[in-house]
Formats: sequence, structure tokens, C-alpha cells
Amino acid sequence: MHRHGLKIRHADDPSVEPERDDPMRRILVTGGCGFIGSVFVRRHLNQHPTDEVWNLDALTYAGNLSSLADVADNPRYSFIHGSICDGPLVEELISSAPVDAVVNFAAESHVDRSIEAPDLFLQTNVLGTQTLLEAARRNGVRRFLQVSTDEVYGSLGAEGKFSETTALAPRSPYSASKASADLLCSAYHHTFGMDVVITRCCNNYGPYQFPEKLIPLMILNAMGDRPLPVYGDGLQVREWLHVEDHCAGIEAVLERGKAGEVYNLGSGEEMTNLSLVQRLLKLTGKDESLISHVTDRLGHDRRYAIDSSRAQNQLGWSAQVSFENGLAATVQWYRDNTDWWQPILSGEYRNYYRKMYDGR
Ligand code: NAD
Ligand code: TYD
Repeated sequence: MHRHGLKIRHADDPSVEPERDDPMRRILVTGGCGFIGSVFVRRHLNQHPTDEVWNLDALTYAGNLSSLADVADNPRYSFIHGSICDGPLVEELISSAPVDAVVNFAAESHVDRSIEAPDLFLQTNVLGTQTLLEAARRNGVRRFLQVSTDEVYGSLGAEGKFSETTALAPRSPYSASKASADLLCSAYHHTFGMDVVITRCCNNYGPYQFPEKLIPLMILNAMGDRPLPVYGDGLQVREWLHVEDHCAGIEAVLERGKAGEVYNLGSGEEMTNLSLVQRLLKLTGKDESLISHVTDRLGHDRRYAIDSSRAQNQLGWSAQVSFENGLAATVQWYRDNTDWWQPILSGEYRNYYRKMYDGR
């Protein structure tokens, strides 16, 4: 395993003396250098002081090693640079030492990019998940947790919420790829008896979110006095959950979820994009004249809302961070952490922004 920089002892190697402080569990997190994965890795290391965490991440445009700079030297943390689509690497990794659970965050995650170039979404989100499932199955990984999204359910009208029994009806290449991955996970549970659990969460916000997504994009544009590009009429509705609450929900499902089950994770904090942008303008002290209505996203889902009573009743999980406090803290985080986002705004992302927004 030296080529991945991992210091892995093989449990069956007779020359290796067992250590008294062997980790209780070894968790393989994928996509841990992304927005949600990085929060999960840090949280898990803090809350499970004997667990070891491996982070397999391809470091795409969305992966950022600096998001986990504070844990890089933790002896219970290992970073492996590689893709979930690389079958031999994934197999080598999972067979090299007992892995208790795989938590799969790795994905192409942005709907707008999936409209521009769907292929990569299918490769990473569908085939990458299947590659992981296969290696986990072959090597007897105890539990596989798939991090999914409420977008697999499609779009709602003015009323109602998605429950776990709502039929899958994805409408963007992104959500279609995530729904496909969910179906593969269910298939591995039913066909091979694998212990698979799926979480489906609403829109996340918080620190370390890549600025292509609505909230950080609008915060940074407002801070820089640039126009805030609201798609169409801005009356699309999203439900927002703080990333720490999402990660607490994933932990609850990892610990106490029932094999084969799906758990929706939401906050009940629904609002239109326009009202959210107005709040952000207040928090950044900027004027509403910065709002610019631009051409709508193709096939734009009108409303998402999620019923998370199963996770609340069966797992005792619920959102703890109020949207008001969480949003204010997020704005403050972007104010305080220019070192994190400045290199992104001045790098390749500039070309993406021009391509997506110039003349829209
Ligand atoms: P992100 O785009 O910020 O991060 C994705 C990470 O995956 C990056 O570190 C990237 O380098 C890595 N990655 C991409 N392709 C890879 C590959 N082939 N192999 C290994 N690593 C790879 O995404 P995010 O917002 O943190 O989302 C994480 C997961 O949560 C995704 O599966 C997403 O579908 C799901 N999700 C996100 C939200 C949200 O609001 N952001 C809501 C619900 C569910
Ligand atoms: P986004 O953060 O891309 O998440 P998702 O599409 O997965 O819900 O977008 C959230 C909402 O904000 C969505 O309705 C699209 C809208 N939006 C804009 O109006 N302008 C923007 O520049 C972006 C990125 C999103």
C-alpha cells in the first residue's frame, strides 16, 4: 500500500505484533475532501476517539485538501489520492485491512455541471458507486452507507413532501445518476444480502461549500459587489439543512439505521431562492439592486421538501441548528476564511463562472 502513502498493518501478517490500541473500527470515507465529506471526517475523528478514518478522494475541482488541514497529522487519519472508479485501487484498499464501513460521499454534485456534461456524472456517481459496492461485498465490509439526495424524488408542486416511499422520479442528469446509484445499492442489499443504508438529504449549507452552489456563490458575489444571478423568477423552493446536522444524521444512520432502509434527512426550513438571497443581502449589508434575474436552469425543479419523521422517530435524530443562526455563522465563516476561497475564485473556477454566467 506504499504507493498510496498509507501506513497499513495487515492483521493476518504474523510478523506484526498486535497493538494494544488497535482502532475499534476503520471507516472508509470517499469524497472526504469535499464540502460535506470534510465535515464528516473531522466530526467522526473527534467523536469516535478510537476509530481510524481513511479518506479516498480523487481531488477533482471540488476536492480541497486544505478543508482537512487540521486533521492531516492525526495518526488515525489517512488520505488516499484516487478515484472510486479505479477498481484495482479500491479492491487493494478494501482488502488491505478490515474495513468496518464505507461511507460514500464521492460524487459529481452540481446540477448545472450535469446539464453541461452528463458523462462524468454517470461514471463517478453510478459506476464509481458500483465499484465500491463490489469491493465492499467481496471483502465483507460490515455496512455500506450511500449518501444520496432528495433530488432523486423529482419535483413537488406547492403542497406535500417527499417520504422514503415516494417513487423515484429524477429529472436532471445529476439526480438521475444519484437515483441509479441508490437502485444499485438496494440491488446489492436484496441480491447479496449486503448491509446497505441510504440517506437522502435536502440542500446543505455551511462552511467549506464550493462557491458554485447557491449560498456561497451569493455570499461571495455580495461581498465583492457583483450581481447575484437568480435563475428565472427565483420562486423555486429549497429546504436547507446545516452540514453539521446532515453529518449527525449520517452518523445516526451508520450507528442505528436498519439494513436495507432509506432515511430522509431534512430541516423543515423551506424558502424560495429569492427570499434566501434577500436574507443574504441583509447579512452582508448589501443592497437588493445587486439581484439580477438570469436565464433559468434547463428543467429546473420547482420545489423540494422532505419528510424526515422516520429518522426522527426511529433514530432520535433531528436538526439542531436554526437556519437563522446557521446562515449568519456561514456568512461570517466566508468573511473570516478568505484564505480558503480566494484561491478558488482566482483559479480554474473563473473560467467556469464566465462560461456559465456571462451573457446569461
Ligand atoms: P462536493 O462536490 O463538495 O465534493 C465531492 C467530493 O468527491 C470532492 O472532494 C471530489 O474530489 C470527490 N470526488 C469526485 N469524484 C470522485 C471520484 N471519482 N473518486 C473519489 N472522489 C471523488 O460534494 P458535496 O456537496 O460534499 O456532496 C457530497 C455528497 O452528498 C454527494 O454524494 C452528493 O450527491 C450528496 N448530497 C449533497 C447535498 C448538498 O446540498 N451539497 C445534498 C444532499 C446530498
Ligand atoms: P444549487 O445550490 O445548485 O443546488 P440544487 O440545484 O442542487 O438545489 O441551487 C439551489 C437553488 O438555487 C436552485 O433552485 C438553483 C438556484 N440557483 C440560482 O438561482 N442561481 C445560481 O447561481 C445557482 C448556483 C443556483
